[in-house]
Amino acid sequence: MEPERQDLLEELRKGALPRHVAIVMDGNGRWAKARGLPRTAGHKQGVETVREIVRMTRQLDIPVLTIFAFSTENWSRPQYEVDALMRLMVDAIIKEVPELHANGVRLRFIGDLSRLNRDLTQAVEKAHATTRDNRILTLNVAVNYGGRAEITRAARLLAQRAVEGKLEPASIREKDVADVLYTAGQPDVDLLIRTGGDKRISNFLLFQCAYAEFVVPSIYWPDFDRYQYYLALKEFQGRQRRFGGLGEEDARG
Ligand code: IPE
Ligand code: IPE
Ligand code: MG
Repeated sequence: MEPERQDLLEELRKGALPRHVAIVMDGNGRWAKARGLPRTAGHKQGVETVREIVRMTRQLDIPVLTIFAFSTENWSRPQYEVDALMRLMVDAIIKEVPELHANGVRLRFIGDLSRLNRDLTQAVEKAHATTRDNRILTLNVAVNYGGRAEITRAARLLAQRAVEGKLEPASIREKDVADVLYTAGQPDVDLLIRTGGDKRISNFLLFQCAYAEFVVPSIYWPDFDRYQYYLALKEFQGRQRRFGGLGEEDARG
């Protein structure tokens, strides 16, 4: 979508927009392979896509975007690829934070950050400190993130409170669990996009995606663009969400 395609943004604004979009940015390696390039070239190009998608999310006033950058399982990749991904994240943070901050984006890195190297830890801490009071868009970047690890951590936190006598186990509600997830205080995921064509969740936001609408374009992440995003949002707007109940027409009997 070209910048002048404001009409497409306007069209989207006429329908209900998701309050939280989550994206599994998949297909970088295959994108590179198809061009005879190293996999890391795909990751590098993928950063360009992130910039455009964040911009458009902000232009549409969608308040929360979560992107999957590195999973708890991705450590099993070759060391050079892991190293390249970590370096790319450091570079991207340093390069992008000024514009993100100027545009009111609050950056939040979610996952077990204790395993990140020193450079990335420093970049993450600085990005958090710089953007913490921004309110236009919350951009969660999932790094060393796993949905199961997140839920396990939540169980640990609640158990600790119970042991300390601050929480009655029988009184624990879903909201109490939600409140100890990394996404505490944020709306559930309305739209989950996974590029690359695979139709699986790969341990992403398991709790938050309970009623998310899935859109799975077959295009690889580096080729995903504003127009593809528009198409995904249009598809979302065409869905009938029922949350276990009945659709409007059927409910009338
Ligand atoms: C997604 O692209 C990025 C990360 C998992 C870090 P992949 O690297 O998984 O690309 P494919 O799926 O092998 O094409
Ligand atoms: C999911 O992609 C993780 C990220 C995009 C960071 P993967 O490529 O790791 O997922 P699988 O291995 O195909 O399930
Ligand atoms: Mg993949």
